Amino acid sequence: MELNEQIKIETDPIYQKVSKVIPQIEWAFHAPLIHKINKLKKEKNAVVLAHNYQTPEIFHGIADIAADSLALAIEAEKTNADIIVLCGVHFMAETAKLMNPNKKVLLPDMGAGCSLASSITGKDVRMLKEKYPSVPVVTYVNTSADVKAESDICCTSANVIKVIESLGTDKVIFLPDQYMAKYVQTKTKVQIISWIGTCIVHERFSAQEIDDIKKQNPEIVVLTHPECPPEVIAASDFTGSTSGMNKYVKDNQPNKVMLVTECSMSDNVQVENPNVQFIKPCNLCPHMKTITLPKVLDCLENEKNEILIPEIISRKARKAVERMVAIGRSH
Ligand code: 13P
Ligand code: SF4
Repeated sequence: MELNEQIKIETDPIYQKVSKVIPQIEWAFHAPLIHKINKLKKEKNAVVLAHNYQTPEIFHGIADIAADSLALAIEAEKTNADIIVLCGVHFMAETAKLMNPNKKVLLPDMGAGCSLASSITGKDVRMLKEKYPSVPVVTYVNTSADVKAESDICCTSANVIKVIESLGTDKVIFLPDQYMAKYVQTKTKVQIISWIGTCIVHERFSAQEIDDIKKQNPEIVVLTHPECPPEVIAASDFTGSTSGMNKYVKDNQPNKVMLVTECSMSDNVQVENPNVQFIKPCNLCPHMKTITLPKVLDCLENEKNEILIPEIISRKARKAVERMVAIGRSH
């Protein structure tokens, strides 16, 4: 069979799914790359784990697992593949490596950072531990392995309250997201000592923006991520992790919804929920958007951009992530 025909047969069914969110003219560029990457995955026994903020051509075209950061960590541990290509940001690839240290973990763009992860260092955590001796440190997975290594346990937005309350203390240090810390404080009696980090995507939403959209769309359901500022969360109907939002839409099928989060999230959820109307004011995560199909192909073909973590750090950081995974999801 001719190559073009083969590409068409393989990718047309994918395009039928995503045609509402990817213009046909763009698909002509994506289809051959999707075909090549999927073929290479089989040849190399590789798996693509993608975060919910990845573009629809990655999320629906090449991902074997597409999920929130908690599920990505869990799936990274379970996989039998020899190579994991992490379509997401650096801390997610590091977490995958921590969970499955014998696998080759590749990140298509090593510059894919995160404003939360870069807001704090291992040294900062040591300083906090000196200031608050015997207070346990709960660290959001959006941090470097260095920071995780200084922590008692990790959490994600899908289990933060469950993790904090599992410790049985009246105080915890929670790092590094100040807005998530404020949100958590409204949900638990445990006293939260926080840090000053913010997510550059979620901090830009305002309550005014939400109110204006609600006025124009009186029946709209507004879902927020816990990295949003408190007044934005207060203006919403539901707050949860990216997979929590996805599940909310799937289970409730609202007529109209707005996901107050990264732009690709609405596109990806819309594909699976064709009867729901999405109102889409959103902010792009410049880090997530560094990951593209040509970069995925290049990194898998040449097995480049491998994540390596010094053993002295990974041993300690792994413990903090494993403790979190053992606790699981809140709902
Ligand atoms: P989730 O853990 O909800 O997938 O969020 C990760 C993230 O980076 C949100 O900005
Ligand atoms: Fe980090 Fe925010 Fe991007 Fe998530 S959306 S990866 S928290 S900068």
